[in-house]
Amino acid sequence: MQRLKKRSWAEPFKIKVVEPLKMTSREERERALKEAGYNTFLLRSEDVYIDLLTDSGTNAMSDYQWAGMMLGDEAYAGSRNFYRLEDAVKRYYGYAHLVPTHQGRGAEHLISRILIKPGDFVPGNMYFTTTRLHQELAGGTFVDVIIDEAHDPASLHPFKGNVDLGKLEALVKKVGADKIPYISVAATVNMAGGQPISMANLKELHAFCSRQGIRIILDATRAVENAWFIKIREKGYESRSIAEILKEMCSYSDGCTMSGKKDLLVNIGGFLAINDAEIFEEARNLVVVYEGLHTYGGLAGRDMEAMARGIEEAVQEDHIRARIGQVEYVGEKLKAIGIPIVQPVGGHAIFLDAKNFLPKIPQVEFPAQTLAAELYLESGIRSMERGIVSAGRNKETGDHYYPKLELVRLTFPRRVYTQAHCDVTAEAVEAVYERRDTIRGLRMVYEPKYLRFFQARFERL
Ligand code: F0G
Repeated sequence: MQRLKKRSWAEPFKIKVVEPLKMTSREERERALKEAGYNTFLLRSEDVYIDLLTDSGTNAMSDYQWAGMMLGDEAYAGSRNFYRLEDAVKRYYGYAHLVPTHQGRGAEHLISRILIKPGDFVPGNMYFTTTRLHQELAGGTFVDVIIDEAHDPASLHPFKGNVDLGKLEALVKKVGADKIPYISVAATVNMAGGQPISMANLKELHAFCSRQGIRIILDATRAVENAWFIKIREKGYESRSIAEILKEMCSYSDGCTMSGKKDLLVNIGGFLAINDAEIFEEARNLVVVYEGLHTYGGLAGRDMEAMARGIEEAVQEDHIRARIGQVEYVGEKLKAIGIPIVQPVGGHAIFLDAKNFLPKIPQVEFPAQTLAAELYLESGIRSMERGIVSAGRNKETGDHYYPKLELVRLTFPRRVYTQAHCDVTAEAVEAVYERRDTIRGLRMVYEPKYLRFFQARFERL
C-alpha cells in the first residue's frame, strides 16, 4: 500500500454560499469570441467558465465582511463606517490622513492632479495602465526606473520589483529633482508579473529621495502580497508579522494610492492616504468634485465597512499564505510541463510568456492577445492580455510601445476558486500549448483612444 507522506496545506475557510458555473460548447465559445472581437474584456461573464481575467473586485467576501455590510451607515456626511475605515488605514498602513475613493484610479487621479505640473517627470518601478495615464493626463511624463531583471521573464531575481537607483539618479541629474514631484512605487509590480520590491530597496530609495526632496507615493494595491514575499525571501523578516512588515513598508513612503478591490477583499472601493496635511487638504477639496463628499468618496457606507474589515483580514497570515500558495500551485504545475511563464511566480497571477509560447507570431500581430483568445476557445477560461495592446501608444511618435514583456495573465481572485479549478486551468493551458504551431495572430480593427486594451477589437489573420 502506498502511503501519503506529504502534509498538504488547505484553504483556511469553508464555503457557505456557492455560485453555479456554466460550461459552454466550443461552437458557443467560437461565436462569443468573434462577437467580442477576440478581446476577453468584451466577453459576457455568463459565457465564461473560470474567470481569471482579474483579481480586481472579484474576491469572495467573508461572513464577517457581509455582516458588516448590514451595518452600513448611509448618511451623506460623517458616516460611522468612514471613521472605521480611517481608523483601520491608520492602524495598518500608518498614514495620517485618508480620502476614500470609488476605486484605485480615483485616488490616482487626485494625487496626479495635485502633485504633477505640465513638464514634470514621474519615475516608477514599471508602469500600471491607469496610473501612468493619470500621470500623463496631468502633464507628466512617466519614466521607467525598475531594475532590468524585471523585463526578463526568465530572471529568477527574488525582488524583480526593485527600483534601480542608478536609473533614478540619472533621471534626477538629467531633469533636476524639482521636475520630479514624486516617484510612484508599486508593491507588488503588476505588469512585471506580480513581482515584489524588497524592504532594503524601499529603505535605500527612501534615503535617496529624502536627500533629493522627492516624495514617494506607494501603490499599495497589493502591498500585503508584497509583505508576504518579504517575509519569506528577505533576511531578518522571517519572524515578523505581515502587519508589521506592511507598516514598515509604508513608513518609507509619504502616502499611497489603493485599489481596495485587490488585497482588501472587497468588490469595490479604494483610497488615497497621505501624511502631508496640505496635500490632504487639497485632496479633500478635489474629491468632492470627482468622487463624492470626503467622508464617502463615491462609496456606500457599507462598502467602507467591508473594506475596513477586509484590511483586518488581509494581513492574517493563514489567508495570505493560502492566497499566494494557490497561485504558486498553478505555477509549479505549468513549470513541470514546460510551459513558459514569468518566474519567479508572482503574488496574484501566473503570467504566460506569449513570446515564447507563440514564437512565430510577431509582436505586431499581438501574440498575448491571441493566446488569451485561444485559451478561452479551448476551455472557457478567461485571461487577460498584458503586452503590446496594454502598453498602448507613445503619445509623441504615435507608434505602439513595444514592451519586452508580452504576457497573458491568469489572475486568481481571492478565496473564489478551488484546487480542482486550478488543475483544470493548467490542463487547458497544456492543451493550447500542444497545438501552438497551428495558431495564427490577430489584426486590430478598432482602437479606442484611452486604455485601448479594454475595448479594442480584433480579427483573425
Ligand atoms: N494599481 C495597480 C497595481 C492595479 O493593479 C490597479 C488595477 C490599479 C492601480 C487601479 O485600480 O482598478 O481599482 O481603479 N488593476 C486591475 C487589474 C484593473 O486587473 O490588474 P482600480
